Amino acid sequence: MNFACPVCHGPLLVSEDQTCLRCELGHSFDRARQGYWNLLLPQRKRSRDPGDSAEMIQARRRFLDAGYYWLIAEQVGQLLIDRLGQDSSPRILDLACGEGYYTAQIEEALNGAGLTPELIGLDISKPAIRAACKRSQQVEWLVATGADIPVPAGSLDAITLMFSRIMAQPMARALKPGGLLLVVWPGAEHLIELREAIYDQVRKRELSPAEALSPWFEPLHEEKLSFDFEVSSADGLSDLLAMTPHGQRIRAQAREALLERGQLDCHADIRIGIFQRSVEPAALPE
Ligand SMILES: C[S@@+](CC[C@H](N)C(=O)[O-])C[C@H]1O[C@@H](n2cnc3c(N)ncnc32)[C@H](O)[C@@H]1O
Ligand SMILES: [Zn+2]
Repeated sequence: MNFACPVCHGPLLVSEDQTCLRCELGHSFDRARQGYWNLLLPQRKRSRDPGDSAEMIQARRRFLDAGYYWLIAEQVGQLLIDRLGQDSSPRILDLACGEGYYTAQIEEALNGAGLTPELIGLDISKPAIRAACKRSQQVEWLVATGADIPVPAGSLDAITLMFSRIMAQPMARALKPGGLLLVVWPGAEHLIELREAIYDQVRKRELSPAEALSPWFEPLHEEKLSFDFEVSSADGLSDLLAMTPHGQRIRAQAREALLERGQLDCHADIRIGIFQRSVEPAALPE
């Protein structure tokens, strides 16, 4: 375990009984009953309960546990094994890990390939990390902000960032020079049927993280993962809505119509990009 104090950025040492982290200046953080560390400072919160709500988390958990996105988890695991396989215990952070589905899948895949990674799952949402604790006891789960990742500078071999906002500078700071960043983001056709059922006009925007990452990262590889899946119950559709931003934007009437239909053929259009932390990156703030 190698964390940095979110107040002074000095190293955090774990107490003998493993229940408390403390830095040299005396800032201390207790381990929560569920097993995670809360390193989110109150002044870092923009709201009382930042990040995804308990309802969104439970919906995402049910949806992901149903296996609809298993292919994504499998491919991410394989890419990490291919790229990190020479190092038997890489230190990997799953940033904005949500309720930990992908983190746990990554752990399983790497263990299956004979690697013993040191895995950290970090999210700003307390309900997300509480749920994540139930997925694995080997992963170090953190409630913290990705805007100030509480690990020593240059201490990570890899970061995974899936379906989440790009926080380029803090990721560059936390990674070793030459470290890997694996980003998963939705392509223009992702969940197109769902969006067509919700919006009068569907915008097909192609997002790419490359520009936001460019001062500190070099693109190494990009691939497209497309597959179809069927959601065949109103509950499944309700979960899919609740775990996407669409759920908050859908009008009541459209929502009712969709749930009444109780079935939707869906298309997943996913991009996976691998970036490398530049060896001589642009200057980073301390
Ligand atoms: C769309 S979810 C993706 C979760 C997970 N990666 C997955 O694919 O299942 C985005 C996550 O980002 C988290 N989040 C939002 N702002 C954050 C921040 N500043 N630092 C860390 N996590 C954040 C939310 O709480 C939420 O769990
Ligand atoms: Zn401190």
